[in-house]
Amino acid sequence: MTDYNRRAVELLGGKPMVDLGVTEAGIQKAVERLKIVGGNRLRGSVSPSGAKNAVLKLMTASLSAHNLCIIRNVPRIRDVETMIGVLRGLGAEVNWEDETVLAIKAPNDLGFCAPDELVREMRASVQVMGPLLSRNGRVKLFQPGGCVIGQRPIDLHLKGFQALGAEVVEDHGYVYVQAKKLRGAEIHLDFPSVGATENIMAAAIVAEGTTVIRNAAKEPEIIEEQNFYNRLGARIRGAGTDTIRIEGVPRLYDREIDYTVIPDRIETGTFMIATAITGGDVTVADIIPEHVEALISKLREVGNYIEIGEDWLRIVAPNRVKAADVTVLTHPGFPTDLQPQITALLTIAQGTSVITENVFGSRFRYVDELVRMGAMIRVESRSAIVKGVENLSGAMVFAPDLRAGAALVIVGLRAEGITVIEGLQYLDRGYERFEQKLAGLGADIVRDRI
Ligand code: UD1
Repeated sequence: MTDYNRRAVELLGGKPMVDLGVTEAGIQKAVERLKIVGGNRLRGSVSPSGAKNAVLKLMTASLSAHNLCIIRNVPRIRDVETMIGVLRGLGAEVNWEDETVLAIKAPNDLGFCAPDELVREMRASVQVMGPLLSRNGRVKLFQPGGCVIGQRPIDLHLKGFQALGAEVVEDHGYVYVQAKKLRGAEIHLDFPSVGATENIMAAAIVAEGTTVIRNAAKEPEIIEEQNFYNRLGARIRGAGTDTIRIEGVPRLYDREIDYTVIPDRIETGTFMIATAITGGDVTVADIIPEHVEALISKLREVGNYIEIGEDWLRIVAPNRVKAADVTVLTHPGFPTDLQPQITALLTIAQGTSVITENVFGSRFRYVDELVRMGAMIRVESRSAIVKGVENLSGAMVFAPDLRAGAALVIVGLRAEGITVIEGLQYLDRGYERFEQKLAGLGADIVRDRI
């Protein structure tokens, strides 16, 4: 094993790094795959885990805290494990208190340079920048990696830091940001970037004066971050709208906090779409239905019956849905993280659908894999034109990114015969016990190794 990989394994608490292709013993790890026998209608009840994209940001927000942060409802997924490694690499104490409970304590002498080998692994590592800047006044970061779904610059994050008075230097693949003093500012984002909104919010909590972020992202995860920071002693309001106001405080509280994360709306949506493609009848419980409104409306449009309760919904699907056009937008529009899954569903629709992606540049790389399973899809610029077919057939496919992996599983549930999906290192980044949950709904799905 190289020093580089050894360091990564060490930061992850000795866990094998599937993606780096090594184990602690330095032996190539067996390839894991999912095997699905399609055709079973999903039935029953399922609950999603805590929201990945909220948890990761609350973990980085804990770096700003002066005392212990307990975070509940945390999914045991690879991105969380990677973020634990990033926080430990910065000197924080991070421990699993229970199956879904994380305890994080950031010391006073926190580091300012996140471990390169983990930052390369996961783009969300960039979210340590705001908290480190407000706590330390400096941060150094390797330009982050992540899913290959288009160009993912961090210019909006950096412009925001500069507006707050920080100096930004980019050199040999690293970004250095430092500020002797941060001052509140009016910041208008060119695009309502989720990550930039969260990072600027984090940097501004102890800036002198008031910061106003306009054209801010409105995703529910931003509200989670606002609530978490306010529990730590910050003064933020407006999250969930396009204008967020942060009144800088001299110092956050010294007390401990205990916070429970919202359920994952993308996992919720994935189960809803999986039900829809199999003609199933499933209740998705312990959720916030308002977080999946755009999907509810689209699934109703294509012929599903959906009943909505306070914290659950039941979806009863027809044998074959109707076609519909889908336009991906920022929240509360149709989410990009459900775009591959809804495209998967529309492959068997009656009629032709057009799916237009407006958030990421190239999020149709998985289409070739769907075509291999009998789907009729043509990609033109930012749109996929999907001519619905009656039957799909199982095949050997590879998941090129996290949500594309979910789309392949969804198609496999409907396809005739056996579908084998490789590339689980992506799927495992964001779905906890995915195959077990689907099997609980009656899917014929197993994980094996070769
Ligand atoms: C987050 C989510 C991701 C989701 C995305 C959009 C996490 C960990 N990830 O990613 O699952 O798909 O929101 O809902 O929460 N952009 C720039 N410059 C920047 C920042 C972004 O041009 O400085 C562009 C990106 O290239 C992309 C678009 O803005 O085209 C959206 O990115 P952003 O909202 O920042 O997504 P992330 O925070 O990376």
